Amino acid sequence: MAGQVLLAIFFSLCLSASGQAAVGTYVTADDIRMANDAALKAEAACVSGSSMTIDDYDTARAQLVDASANNILRTIMTEAATQEEMTTLVTERLPSAMIGAAAPLIMFFILLIFYTFCCCWTACPFCKCCRCCARLRQIPFLAKLLFLLMIGGFVLALVIVSSLSTRGYAKATEGFDVTNCAAAKMVNATFQGQADPYFLGLIPVLTIFDELQGSLAAGSTFITSLTGILDNTKEITDAVAVAKANVDLLANMLADSSNIEPTGTLHECIGCAALSTTLAQVGTALTTGTAQALSSARVEVNNQLSGSSLENLRSSMGIATAPLVELKTTVKNAFEPFVSDTIMEQISDQLAANGTVASVFMIGLALVLAACAMISIIMWMCQEKSSSDRGQPVYYKRVHRCACCTWCCGCYYTMLAFFLGGLLTILAVPLSSFCLILEDISSDLLHSIAAPMNLNLTGPEGDMMGSMIDQCIGNATGNPRLLDLISVPDANGNTVTMYDLLVGQTKDQIASQFDQIGTSMNTGGASIATSDDFVLLKNMLSTIALDTMMLPKSSYDWAGDANYQDMLANSDMAPYIASTAACADNVVPTGFGLTGEGTTQKGITSFLSTLSPTYAASTISRSNCASDFTCKTSAQLGATDYAACEAAKKFMDLKFAIRSQTIFKCRRFTVSSVPCTVQFMAQVGGTWTGDCKEADGTFTEVTYDCIRLSCRINDTAAMKSFSRGDLPTFVALVQAYSGLLDLVFARVDSSTSSALSQIQVNLKNLLDVNFLDKIATVGNGVTCGFMGTTYRDVVNGLCYGGVWGIKAVASSYTACAVLTLFLASGKW
Ligand SMILES: *[C@@H]1O[C@H](CO)[C@@H](O)[C@H](O)[C@H]1NC(C)=O
Ligand SMILES: *[C@@H]1O[C@H](CO)[C@@H](O)[C@H](O)[C@H]1NC(C)=O
Ligand SMILES: *[C@@H]1O[C@H](CO)[C@@H](O)[C@H](O)[C@H]1NC(C)=O
Ligand SMILES: *[C@@H]1O[C@H](CO)[C@@H](O)[C@H](O)[C@H]1NC(C)=O
Repeated sequence: MAGQVLLAIFFSLCLSASGQAAVGTYVTADDIRMANDAALKAEAACVSGSSMTIDDYDTARAQLVDASANNILRTIMTEAATQEEMTTLVTERLPSAMIGAAAPLIMFFILLIFYTFCCCWTACPFCKCCRCCARLRQIPFLAKLLFLLMIGGFVLALVIVSSLSTRGYAKATEGFDVTNCAAAKMVNATFQGQADPYFLGLIPVLTIFDELQGSLAAGSTFITSLTGILDNTKEITDAVAVAKANVDLLANMLADSSNIEPTGTLHECIGCAALSTTLAQVGTALTTGTAQALSSARVEVNNQLSGSSLENLRSSMGIATAPLVELKTTVKNAFEPFVSDTIMEQISDQLAANGTVASVFMIGLALVLAACAMISIIMWMCQEKSSSDRGQPVYYKRVHRCACCTWCCGCYYTMLAFFLGGLLTILAVPLSSFCLILEDISSDLLHSIAAPMNLNLTGPEGDMMGSMIDQCIGNATGNPRLLDLISVPDANGNTVTMYDLLVGQTKDQIASQFDQIGTSMNTGGASIATSDDFVLLKNMLSTIALDTMMLPKSSYDWAGDANYQDMLANSDMAPYIASTAACADNVVPTGFGLTGEGTTQKGITSFLSTLSPTYAASTISRSNCASDFTCKTSAQLGATDYAACEAAKKFMDLKFAIRSQTIFKCRRFTVSSVPCTVQFMAQVGGTWTGDCKEADGTFTEVTYDCIRLSCRINDTAAMKSFSRGDLPTFVALVQAYSGLLDLVFARVDSSTSSALSQIQVNLKNLLDVNFLDKIATVGNGVTCGFMGTTYRDVVNGLCYGGVWGIKAVASSYTACAVLTLFLASGKW
């Protein structure tokens, strides 16, 4: 019965894994009462034995198989495809299979009939006509002695065999005690947990689930506090987002091919790559920095514990709780009688008492019978004959009286023993069949017998049940986590284990985000605005004017271009083929990894002064420093220099073009299509304005021709002064980012310092206490190894104690009956 209950627990556990969420409080006062009762009961019940010692397992198992008519139940259930088929098979197979088991009972009926028709008038002690005694006999003394010895042997065997029933009773009693103890321990462990193998216990688990459900309910203190901290620290996420958007914007601008290789100018930006590299490092520092880690932590918490994720989490919690509540209810209903009543003790006590009486009775009867038999034999041998006057032997009436008495007693005894033994043998067939199934239970066995039990094991629930049986009961060494064995669909519709869902996808993800905060502080420190990478970037941006980095393409075949090749022939002009697009000369700044750092690079103005007045007759000013000029005549300069001057004029046109044409692409944010820079970002009453975020918190980055900047944006005077051309605007805008990035990074730092303790300490503690620790406790504490241990105790007690004992008693009685039959017929 306990085995059936265990199976029932597993079925309900598995089948309800997909089930409805239980609502309300999971643990009732009644549960706690039962848990306490179970603990007391376990203590009391296990005094008389807590585990079964099986002396010779293989033999005992073989005896069980024998008692079950060769595992008849399993054979039939395995073969039957439906319940109806099973009924058919039972009616077909059972009779022939039961012949052996039913033999003692059949013998009982044969004897009964035989006795009724024959003995009544031949063997009745009150009838005077004892046929056996009436016969005349001439049997030698030696034969009688042999006969005596044989009968003596039978009697001895009878006494031995009947005393074996005592052992059967003792074993059965022990088995019930062990089952009783195991059942009580199981209830105790199921409810209150146990240390080895570790199980948290359903009451603690359900209490935690209850608290978790309470914590996660809308408007709970936890959620309110959580929302409060998340709202208070929203600034860190905003600050990081603003900083990131600006870094990205600058990076995109520097990476724009229009700016790296300005169209139609044969120039390239040789400093852009160096700037981009440093900018990328800053970007990385930002994304791996403390601020980002803080922001990610709060974003992760927000993602997991708000909106639809929170709904999913609540429902996952419900799904995880349902089978546990089901388990609790099943265990409670099934074991209530064990714990609250003393049924098992009564059975065990009755068995012990009646068993003793029964064996004493059987042994006593056997002894009386033996005594009777011996007396009559001895009398037969010594005193049967007495001399008479007529020389005819006269038989003592006492001899056949006694023989008849033995015969009759034997006959009754045989019938009684056949009857009791037969009943118990038949009873042992279903009991041991069931025991063998219980002992051998595995997913394979379950699948093979599922059909006649109307169990549907095809779906995921069936798989779950199978793995639970294999892992929880079948694996004696493992202590698997129950949540690992329950599969549920996650938010994306994938099938994941409950453990992964609650612990892996929820708890571990949140925890790893918090771990990241510590890591980032250890590697980079909390401040981004003072980080080496950022300081370098700021210096680069403010020091390097990108027009000084715009040089004629080094890869271009100037000597092969008819327009410019003559310039290369003139030693004054040739060096300017590597002059910058800036007006003034400049020294390449050191410390930034630029090519040719520390060397002086010529600008447009120097180029012009090289040409004029030596080669140019006059200069014609244009909108930038790349003035036009007219070369002196060929006669004045000579053909070669004249050609060189004309080439220089075309080269100067390139310089003019790069400084004036609408070829550079600038980038900026717009808010509702209105241009915006973070230049005027300010904190007003705790709220930041002018950080160019759209209403939905995103950033809109637009590309525009650099020339138009001044018309559209609230520029500084400095920026306006550059707004005479494309390149200067681009240069000014990039340089302005030194200050803009400073603004946004300073904001990141200030929000980091105000959010650090709120997130790293307050938020973390709040989560740990109310959520993360509990999830971890439940996830790792809800194991099922304890079920296997108890299950094996129950099976051993029930099967190798109880059922084995019953079968032993049955065999002993049957053997007694057979011996007595020999004895009695021998007398005859
Ligand atoms: C019942 O469970 C409690 C809690 O795990 C444990 O301390 C106690 O020892 C158990 N009692 C018995 C008799 O096993
Ligand atoms: C068994 O259950 C699965 C899903 O769990 C279902 O698809 C299938 O139809 C069921 N089979 C029967 C015979 O009920
Ligand atoms: C039993 O459990 C242990 C530990 O969890 C595991 O290593 C082993 O593979 C399991 N055995 C079987 C047969 O599943
Ligand atoms: C331009 O910026 C100044 C602050 O420097 C501000 O007062 C003014 O309102 C801004 N104008 C526009 C059109 O945004």
